[in-house]
Amino acid sequence: MILQIPLNPLQEKYLRKSGLLFPDEQILEYSKAGEGNMNVVVRLKTETRSLILKQSRPFVVKYPTIPAPLGRIFIEDDYYRIINSHEFLSGFSPKIILRDSKNHLVAMDDLGIGADFMGIYSKKINLSEDEIATLPEYLLSLHKLEIRNFSDNMDMKKLNHEHIFFYPFMEFNGFDLDSIQPGLQAMSMKFKTDLKLKNAVKTLGKRYLEKGKHLLHGDFYPGSWIRVDSGLKVIDPEFAFMGDAEFDLGVLIAHLKMAKANPETIQNIVSHYTSKSLIDEKLLHQYTGTEILRRLIGLAQLPLALTLEEKSALADEAATLILKP
Ligand SMILES: Nc1ncnc2c1ncn2[C@@H]1O[C@H](COP(=O)(O)OP(=O)(O)OP(=O)(O)O)[C@@H](O)[C@H]1O
Ligand SMILES: [Mg+2]
Repeated sequence: MILQIPLNPLQEKYLRKSGLLFPDEQILEYSKAGEGNMNVVVRLKTETRSLILKQSRPFVVKYPTIPAPLGRIFIEDDYYRIINSHEFLSGFSPKIILRDSKNHLVAMDDLGIGADFMGIYSKKINLSEDEIATLPEYLLSLHKLEIRNFSDNMDMKKLNHEHIFFYPFMEFNGFDLDSIQPGLQAMSMKFKTDLKLKNAVKTLGKRYLEKGKHLLHGDFYPGSWIRVDSGLKVIDPEFAFMGDAEFDLGVLIAHLKMAKANPETIQNIVSHYTSKSLIDEKLLHQYTGTEILRRLIGLAQLPLALTLEEKSALADEAATLILKP
């Protein structure tokens, strides 16, 4: 069964057969759940309930020529099932309704209609104080879970590894950064030709590929948070793995820096986290710096509102975080 919009008779038959729809239940809405690139995500509404259906394909749905690990949907399911049984964390994520291994599809609760936080870079959206306080609390609880058997998620990690630790630092990667912002290509060369920096990032990348002690969300950035009526929610854990707590925290801080958050706010987040759980600050700095650099000069660009000069200064800061953590 191929999940797609609009609904066709084959899909409807599947929904009834799988029990996702009761025999006489009428479909009122069948629409795109929200913005996303990787998977097919559909909102299914009936008179009494609303579900989200998410299906992975062996490629990136928005860019079908780019292959992507088909099993990523099961990582998401595994992660949500762990979260669902935790008192505090369960409030942030949808409950799982069905896992269909054959069709690489998962059905989950609809958390409600809401936008993600990608607008924070341009200040179209601002994180409230409560929301800011929530982010490290979520990570603290998540990283404290004692998990033994979680998938190594190696296929997704390799994909991420390429785009975080390797491709952005390739001298000739074929991606013309001037198409993003004139002058960015020249700005990036300083980092792509810095052997010490590249080596430090390479070492960090190897560490990223190893198994760590904590369950991580793995993609803890504004595109994975949504604001709905009942508050901030955390979704899209397809990059989850057992790794360094500093990775999730570093990604969070990197994005707050790119969104020009108040330095005091950022310091408060780190202090809050470290007051409750020990971290390796050097490692935190290195993951933070690498995430900033890969977003500034790599392929996974963000809707940033930074001048070239601001990007250059931030990239210098990031390199220092990596080299002199
Ligand atoms: N359980 C849910 N409840 C409400 N809305 C949801 C839910 N899951 C997903 N959405 C909406 O659908 C959008 C896309 O979902 P998601 O980010 O999981 O897809 P994706 O294809 O993995 O995206 P990406 O390409 O960013 O990885 C979200 O931004 C959100 O607006
Ligand atoms: Mg995703």
